[in-house]
Amino acid sequence: MSTIMITVIDREGAEHSDVDWEDDESLMECLVRNSFPILATCGGNASCSTCHSFLDQVSFETAGEIDEDEADVLDSLTEDEREPTSRLTCQVPWDEDLEGAVVRIGPF
Ligand code: FES
Repeated sequence: MSTIMITVIDREGAEHSDVDWEDDESLMECLVRNSFPILATCGGNASCSTCHSFLDQVSFETAGEIDEDEADVLDSLTEDEREPTSRLTCQVPWDEDLEGAVVRIGPF
């Protein structure tokens, strides 16, 4: 089991710099296990957007391609909700190169 550490900024703006992300988890699963308020109502199938969050720019580039299903869901978000580094966290797999990523929890 490999683990990386990431920083999570919650909806109140508080920074949590000691969040562990295990290699068998998606980013969504990591956030849920660490008790962040991610609903993940579709269970990680890229169809609900309740796991939407923002990555820092470098991590966004490291996290790889957005597939068609995820892109469709992101396109359904309002302009206010979406940002250039928006991702559905259930579609972001663990990657050791994401060590130190900064993830800001998206709006509901
Ligand atoms: S958990 Fe539903 S889109 Fe990620």
